Amino acid sequence: MPVLPPDAEPLRVLHISDIHLTPGRHRLMAFVRSLASLEPDLVVNTGDSIASAEAIGPLLDSLGPLLDVPGMFVFGSNDLYSPKPKNPARYLWRTSAGDHDRDEPDLPWEKLGGEMAAAGWLDLNNRRGKLTVNGLDIAVAGVSDPHADRDRYDLVAGPADATAALRLGVLHSPEPKVMDLFAADGYDLLLAGHTHGGQLCVPGYGALVTNCGIDRDRVSGLSMHPPVSPDGGKTAWLYVSAGLGTSPWAPARFACRPEATLLTLMPRSS
Ligand SMILES: [Fe+2]
Repeated sequence: MPVLPPDAEPLRVLHISDIHLTPGRHRLMAFVRSLASLEPDLVVNTGDSIASAEAIGPLLDSLGPLLDVPGMFVFGSNDLYSPKPKNPARYLWRTSAGDHDRDEPDLPWEKLGGEMAAAGWLDLNNRRGKLTVNGLDIAVAGVSDPHADRDRYDLVAGPADATAALRLGVLHSPEPKVMDLFAADGYDLLLAGHTHGGQLCVPGYGALVTNCGIDRDRVSGLSMHPPVSPDGGKTAWLYVSAGLGTSPWAPARFACRPEATLLTLMPRSS
């Protein structure tokens, strides 16, 4: 997508999301491990990385050399709360928002975040940051998961750095009300996950539900946000990843392949 200054070299961004790792998922771990061969310039992890406390070590092993690449992460609700048995089709009649309204997180999210941060990845849970990749200054901001009501946009609010080559916003669940704020503050590109691409889809029709506020047409893939440019307002590019895994209690996808995404950011034409 054309979001870089006109004279910039292309930037390769590996977007991973929704791994939902448990220690026994050897094929998934091998696939994540294989992604380093793509040699991205930057890695963005939009959350739901684990599904058990024991998965942190295997996750770090799987990420392996990717942790040596500049990176950033936000949490999804599943990084905080361990998964519960549920009907895998229940997303068709209700969303999981509010599932944890009264719960304290029971997963070691501080350890998870601490390990990724110790490797050098930026923790963007309700934080701003900046980094330089291939000579490009990148201004970044993120929120913790809006789907679990942990987003505090007020802590990152304000115009994005206009002097940076790229302004990147990161969040787990692509909630329009939060993405509106990122776009209005001048972020060029928003990356999110959470939807699993609908997870149970109908061939020829697509996702039945998104499990969040975004519309079905934008359940995964590339779009603009807001989809219709507000009067005089700003729009951002949006990529929603269909994600790599599922909850271990809802281990089914239909007509909705898992994905990791290599995005190539290109210079604007003028
Ligand atoms: Fe997820």
